[in-house]
Amino acid sequence: MEQLIEKIKNEGSVLSSSVLKVDTFLNHQIDPQLMLAIGKEFAKRFDGCGITRILTIESSGIAPAVMAGMHLNVPVVFARKRKSLTLVNDLLTASVYSFTKQETSEISVSNKYLSENDKVLIIDDFLANGQAAIGLAEIVCQAKASVSGIGIVIEKGFQEGGSILRERGYRVESLAIINSLENGIIQFDQSPVGKAEITR
Ligand code: G4P
Repeated sequence: MEQLIEKIKNEGSVLSSSVLKVDTFLNHQIDPQLMLAIGKEFAKRFDGCGITRILTIESSGIAPAVMAGMHLNVPVVFARKRKSLTLVNDLLTASVYSFTKQETSEISVSNKYLSENDKVLIIDDFLANGQAAIGLAEIVCQAKASVSGIGIVIEKGFQEGGSILRERGYRVESLAIINSLENGIIQFDQSPVGKAEITR
């Protein structure tokens, strides 16, 4: 997605050879116009899949997921990472290990918001090692619903999440794929997968 790639080029900063900071539009301050365009792009890519619900995880997945939900006209559910005062019964849960943070968190969704007829689109801001997406897919599975696809705003192609998810048979659509952050330079994927949005 050219608009997103330009934004990353202009505003992204490389914190290390594995971490990209995009606090100006995605992880802290949010650019609503860009999120709207991102939602539209996800809706276009998953058009015709019969999506009935979007599932994301708090907090940075929520903005792009809501915009996709607006364009697909379906509800958006976000998994919680912390225990909620009001969300206590009938929870679907999964353990998510973060290699980046080296900690495990228990994520949860009320079973009221996912049912077995649902065709779910999972959306997240970053794809690194794929653990969050795997945890969300596990929750969909517990609800006996099906995963129609996984939409990612920024995939770090040099980490293994993308290949793990694709090898498991999930359709993963990433709007920007970064192949390297070495030497402070952001290198984007130029392969047909990474350039998919240009050829559509
Ligand atoms: P994984 O789910 O793909 O295995 O990712 P991982 O555990 O490594 O990521 C942990 C957190 O770090 C996630 O956010 C993820 O979005 C974020 N993250 C991973 N790599 C990068 C990166 O290069 N840049 C930025 N900005 N974030 C990255 P989180 O802790 O859940 O945060 P939030 O959603 O509450 O903002």
